[in-house]
Amino acid sequence: AQNTRESLYIVSQFAANFFEDQMWNSPEGKTIGLSYFKERGFREDILKKFNLGYSPDVWDALTQDAIKNKHAEEYLEKTGLAIRNDKGKLYDRFRGRVMFPIHNFTGRVIGFGGRTLKTDKNVPKYVNSPESEIYHKSNVLYGLFHAKKAIRDQDNCYLVEGYADVLSVHQANIENVVASSGTSLTIEQIRLISRFTQNVTILYDGDAAGIKASLRGLDMILEEGLNVKVVSFPAGDDPDSYMHKVGAGAFKTYIEDNRKDFILYKANILLADAGNDPIKRAGIIRDIVESIAKIPDNIKASVFIRECSSLLQIEERILLTELNTMRAAKL
Ligand code: CTP
Ligand code: MN
Ligand code: MN
Ligand code: MN
Ligand code: MN
Repeated sequence: AQNTRESLYIVSQFAANFFEDQMWNSPEGKTIGLSYFKERGFREDILKKFNLGYSPDVWDALTQDAIKNKHAEEYLEKTGLAIRNDKGKLYDRFRGRVMFPIHNFTGRVIGFGGRTLKTDKNVPKYVNSPESEIYHKSNVLYGLFHAKKAIRDQDNCYLVEGYADVLSVHQANIENVVASSGTSLTIEQIRLISRFTQNVTILYDGDAAGIKASLRGLDMILEEGLNVKVVSFPAGDDPDSYMHKVGAGAFKTYIEDNRKDFILYKANILLADAGNDPIKRAGIIRDIVESIAKIPDNIKASVFIRECSSLLQIEERILLTELNTMRAAKL
């Protein structure tokens, strides 16, 4: 019902305020939460812009405060902010973590990601809100509310993997950035972007998982009829770590100078381990044509066929035949 949804928004906003207040004003929040962000190199204006916070390291700090402020237990449970134990007692989902509130694109708080401060490998790095009536993870892009105007103005959307990447890219004065937040990119997320621009630039982590996710993501983006470019990062870096390593100015230059269209990006990755093996090279060409075959617009597809032809030294005619075969197989 509409009333329930509204109540879930209200308690979520209450929690965001609580975590934020804890981080800026409580001794524990300041010495643990705020220091953590500062040690990572985040500026205060960025922390404030994204309403970052801290959840105290006790069982039910938020739950107690919410109840004291007349929020019903039902809504704490339905948002997943509190969990009921076997004895029927509520305790906080987020404890001793730095908190990233997740806003929908109209700016309402719908969920949270909480990062541990521990380096212990057995503790999950991020705990996230569960699905609820107001939070459907596959339909959400972290940062969209703060990015949408810049996405329209720049007519491009940078797509990163994580929460911290969004903050760091903003800190480099680039505001048109959103994160898929760990879920592999969904069609819904791409459609959400397409309300604001037809151009996506993928900035995923420079590790095997990030490269794999970028290849999958670019095919999905092409299939939705959007244009896609990719910037890769040095092995072991993500946009966040790289920005803090090189600084804001050099970061901006890097992504402007290293933006590749998807053909060049795929060719670079795939050719690197094919060497001169003709059979492997043939496989790569087919792989690239497979991506081109996903583009709904024929004119765009033919432009990319031409590029592929000159880049890989294959006759255009042969690539077109392959393209048509693949398209026919899809129908
Ligand atoms: N993620 C998650 N749960 C995990 C790990 C990751 O939900 N256990 C999501 C988070 O949204 C995270 C994103 O996937 O931001 C990317 O994961 P990863 O690259 O591992 O984390 P970073 O964002 O780089 O986190 P940090 O820089 O804080 O270490
Ligand atoms: Mn719903
Ligand atoms: Mn990663
Ligand atoms: Mn990362
Ligand atoms: Mn990171």
